[in-house]
This record gives sequence, structure tokens and C-alpha cells, in this order.
Amino acid sequence: MDDFIRRLPKCELHLHLEGTLEPAMASAFAGRHGTGEPDLLEARPGTFSGLSDFLAAYYAAMKGLQTEADFYELTSAYLETARHQGVVYAELFFDPQAHTARGVGFDAVVSGIHRAQQDARDRGGPDTALIMCFLRDEPVSSAVETLAQSLPYRARGWILGVGLDSDERGNPPEKFAGVFADARAAGYRLTMHCDPRQDDSLAHLWQCLDLVGVERIDHGLECLADTRLTEEIARRRIGLTACPLSNLRLYGTLMADAVTELLARGVLVSLHSDDPAYFGGYIADNFEAVQEASGLTRSDLARLAKNAFSASWLTAGRTRSYLAAVDEHSGA
Ligand code: ADE
Ligand code: ZN
Repeated sequence: MDDFIRRLPKCELHLHLEGTLEPAMASAFAGRHGTGEPDLLEARPGTFSGLSDFLAAYYAAMKGLQTEADFYELTSAYLETARHQGVVYAELFFDPQAHTARGVGFDAVVSGIHRAQQDARDRGGPDTALIMCFLRDEPVSSAVETLAQSLPYRARGWILGVGLDSDERGNPPEKFAGVFADARAAGYRLTMHCDPRQDDSLAHLWQCLDLVGVERIDHGLECLADTRLTEEIARRRIGLTACPLSNLRLYGTLMADAVTELLARGVLVSLHSDDPAYFGGYIADNFEAVQEASGLTRSDLARLAKNAFSASWLTAGRTRSYLAAVDEHSGA
């Protein structure tokens, strides 16, 4: 089964590049730039008491990311790991405001990531696209400014979509409806986080659908508490990007039952990594964890892999050929 999962062609849709900063690399960057105590960076807790607790560690470690070369190195290392995990295509998140607020240039961040994406493509994959996330616990004006900074890169085709992440408490989707409308008008695809176990989860999910008009929701598993909402997500073919090992380290459960329930209800749910350097595993590890917990068959695993390609922002033709590759691997 492990071999089947590793070699299953996979599509990563929920991966924060800054969340791939492994302790050794965080220490190396901190040492290089004198930005923190390397010993502290190495001592990562196995579990967190919730989203805010994790985010504090995440933002502290990324202070070591300073130059174009750092972003190149971070992204290249991740893409090498992703290739070994069987990822053939990925849409990757990054958090520009977490860097520009520290005086790092927007161009250094995007250019370093872009150069690594091109090099990986030249070396045989994976192929990747970029999603720029706004930090929802920062003012809307900062998101507006970041959107404006991104437009030249949108014009070059370097950034495909926008997302919304960071601390959800008191920062509902509706706060960002205006800037997301502007992003859509600029040609961006739209997704937003609705993390598990948050206050007002159901209201936030409905806002994603009815106020913002997102095409995907990152996490989103709480929708099961509202039958009409779950049906609407299924009807609109909105992808839900579940992150089992993230759920385990933040909330003490893989939420594997929610994944199987969503599959049964015809929702386009798929499995992803979130912040693998913090949560103990990359995408194939997430597939394995859910398979072991729920006894999923090869056909269930292939369905989860296909759901990710179907929820991706690839062209219809490329989606079809990846779906065929999954069928071929699983003997369907
Ligand atoms: N930033 C990085 N990972 C995140 C997550 N799981 N939720 C919200 N913001 C994040
Ligand atoms: Zn996330």
C-alpha cells in the first residue's frame, strides 16, 4: 500500500512554502543572517495547542528568510521532496506580507520562488503554480497594498491565485470580500482558509460561498455540521483541501472520518500537507495516515487523488491527462 501511495500521481493544493522550513534549514538561515537563536529553532514541539500557538512558531522561524537566494533554496528543497513524494503538479501558497513587513522586498520573495519553480520544471518536475495568501489578521489596507504589488507578476503569469490564511479568530471572510473582488477582476483564481475548530466556522463557510464566491476552501471540514452547506459545496464542485497531519498536531485528530463522510456525500475533498515541516509529514505521509486510520481502498485513494486534480486550476485538457494517469496507476 505504501508503494501504491508513493507512486500514485498526486496534486498538492494546500502547502505553505514557509511551512516547509525544516529545522536544519531554519537554523542555517538564522545563522547566515543573525536573525535568531538556532537552538530554539531546532526545538520544534510535536504538537501545538491550536492555530495561534502554531502560527507563533511559524512566523518566528521564517525571520531567517531574507534574500532571493533563501527563497530559491527553500522552494528548491521542497520541490525535490515533493518529487520523491509523487507530486506531479502543485499550487503553492506563500505569505508575502510576512516578509515585506520585515523589510524583505516583494520581488526577492517572488523571484526566488519563481526561479526554483522553473529549475524544478527543467529537471523533470513537479510542475507548479503560485497562490499568494493575504494574512487575515493584518488590516485590509495591507492586503490591498499587497494585491497592487503583485499585479506586475500576475501580468507575467507568475501568480495564479489568491488565498487567505493566518489567524481566523475575529477575521471572517467578509472582511476581505472587497479585496477578493478586486483580485478576481485582476484575473486571479480564489481560495480561502476555513480552519477546523474555529469560532463561527459555519458562518465563515457560508461567506466564502455567498459573499466571496471562492472556487476552493482550504480545510473546510466543519461544513459537515450543516447539511445544506455540505450539499451546496458538493453541488458547486468546490474543492475542500483537507490536511490530516495538520489536524492531528493542532487538534489531536486526523479528522479521517470527516474525509470519508465527505467522500460519501460526493464532495470534492482531497488530501494535502499544510505545513509539513511542523506537522510531521508531506503529502504521501498524509495519504498513509488516513489510509491506516480508515482502511481506505486503492480505489478510495485514487478518488482522493483525482479530486485534487479536478479541484485544481489546470486547464481541462491537462486535468484530463492527469486523471487518466491516476486511473492507469490504480488499474481503473
Ligand atoms: N498559515 C500557515 N498554515 C496555516 C494554517 N493551517 N491555517 C491558517 N494559516 C496558516
Ligand atoms: Zn493552510
